[in-house]
Amino acid sequence: MKVTIVGAGNVGATAADVIASRSISSEVVLLDIKEGFAEGKALDIMQTSTTRGFNTRVFGTTSDYTKTKNSDVVVITSGIPRKPGMTREELIGINASIVKEVTSNILEHSPDTVIVVVSNPMDTMTYLALKSTGIEKNKIIGMGGALDSSRFKTYISMKLNKPQNDIHAMVIGGHGDTTMIPLHRFAKYNGLSLSQFLKNTEIDEIVKSTMVGGATLTKLLGTSAWYAPGASIAYVVDSILNNQNRIIPSSVYLEGEYGVNDICIGVPCIIGKQGVVEIVELDLNQEEKSLFSNSVDAVRKMNESLGEHI
Ligand code: NAI
Ligand code: 2OP
Repeated sequence: MKVTIVGAGNVGATAADVIASRSISSEVVLLDIKEGFAEGKALDIMQTSTTRGFNTRVFGTTSDYTKTKNSDVVVITSGIPRKPGMTREELIGINASIVKEVTSNILEHSPDTVIVVVSNPMDTMTYLALKSTGIEKNKIIGMGGALDSSRFKTYISMKLNKPQNDIHAMVIGGHGDTTMIPLHRFAKYNGLSLSQFLKNTEIDEIVKSTMVGGATLTKLLGTSAWYAPGASIAYVVDSILNNQNRIIPSSVYLEGEYGVNDICIGVPCIIGKQGVVEIVELDLNQEEKSLFSNSVDAVRKMNESLGEHI
């Protein structure tokens, strides 16, 4: 099995490292435009294989898409972060050009691949990748919900002082500070509701921390996070490659589900070999529906900035 990761920066290289070290795929290709960068990252990861005990082959390439041929899954982490003085529209313009060029090159060599979009603004970039290529909607998955849910579960376990892996919880909606919706009503500690253990004010604190989860790390690190994003990508890739059929909130194209059309936004999905196997419809209450509707409006507004890129 073969995975390509485009963009060998912090997030892309970490995803490659997790996929290799957990033997999720037999081959990983890292591609970047920076001369020698992907080759260096790949070699460095390969040289951990004997001490960590894996046999995944990791290769790097500078912009040679022939090396990505016949990939089962391609992850797109290439792009630039927002710089001081840059408008959101300018950022979208630059990343949109990158994502369009990358998806077109990828599909030339792997026409049947499943694409996982990570570059921000992720929901809009996922929509662009789908619209500009016309590939089947089940084969485009935006990764954001996996990460936001892992942050939500971590904050819940910290507040409860209970093991992280005893917690189940999901975040839906857009992948943004104001658009994501941590679904606390559906969150469980070993099957039990949070309200049995926590006061409403404590649940509110967890929700707020989750929503600014990315921003908190950017402030601490001076750039955006990479360990949890890289691990979340590996989690999604594992569910696809190894047909795990996990339920993972992902940004996918909606055609009537949740009463919405023509948008990519985070909803719970069963993720397996073909990509999106099924969109799971939750029985949202009025408050959750209203939050989802606001999130849809915000993502749509962002999509409008794509202008002539679509
Ligand atoms: P980074 O700056 O460390 O890496 C980006 C890499 O992309 C660089 O090595 C750059 O040379 C490369 N690149 C740029 N244009 C390219 C092209 N046309 N072809 C191939 N490679 C190209 O950035 P980092 O921290 O790895 O973040 C990558 C992206 O992922 C950003 O857009 C960031 O906002 C996003 N992100 C999304 C998350 C999510 O949950 N969806 C979580 C964390 C980051
Ligand atoms: C994150 O959530 C910035 O999307 C990036 O860490």
